[in-house]
Amino acid sequence: MADKQLDVLVICGSLRKGSYNAALARSLPALAPPGIALRDAPSFAGLPVYNYDEHQASGIPPIATAWIDAIRSADGVIIVSPEYNWSIPGGLKNAIDWASRLKEVPFAGKPVALQSAATGLLGGSRMQYHLRQSLTSIEAIMFNKPEVIVTFAAKKFDEKTLELIDQPTRDMVKQQLAAFEKFVRRLGPR
Ligand SMILES: Cc1cc2nc3c(=O)[nH]c(=O)nc-3n(C[C@H](O)[C@H](O)[C@H](O)COP(=O)(O)O)c2cc1C
Repeated sequence: MADKQLDVLVICGSLRKGSYNAALARSLPALAPPGIALRDAPSFAGLPVYNYDEHQASGIPPIATAWIDAIRSADGVIIVSPEYNWSIPGGLKNAIDWASRLKEVPFAGKPVALQSAATGLLGGSRMQYHLRQSLTSIEAIMFNKPEVIVTFAAKKFDEKTLELIDQPTRDMVKQQLAAFEKFVRRLGPR
């Protein structure tokens, strides 16, 4: 663990093609310290809405298994998500609900950092608090500071390429990733 490059999974909460959060997620490899290797989580877009009866009858669908296995095998997770109606987007919450129904919950003991981008003044910060609460309930180990909250996202990304061009935001992301690497290493192997 001390020397090995950490395997960090990146989950994006937006399915939108021109998503600012997906753009933020894409900016991470260039801003990450050498000790972190980032990989994208499989999509949760096709997951059925969680229904206990169907879960009992048919088990976990393969698409949910792929999402869950990706979390389980990672040293840490970064969730980059928008805020929908002051909270967690439904698709992401549904995927977390699926993951929470296993005997060995993949988020348990898993270090998790949060990032959000929104077009408004609060940058998705309310969503972050709700996500923090939900993930704590399934024993994730939440990273606290520095926070990455990208406000007024349209001004922070290139209009055409969606590259993250705002230097203070890039610095903020860089600082969080460096601190998250230390946090994951301090927690040690799972
Ligand atoms: C269903 C819906 C609900 C939204 N609710 C909020 C909200 O509560 N707070 C906020 O800051 N922005 C809200 N927005 C605006 C998003 O910040 C904006 O659409 C953002 O670009 C979404 O992230 P994305 O670009 O990664 O898809 C909402 C957008 C949608 C589509």
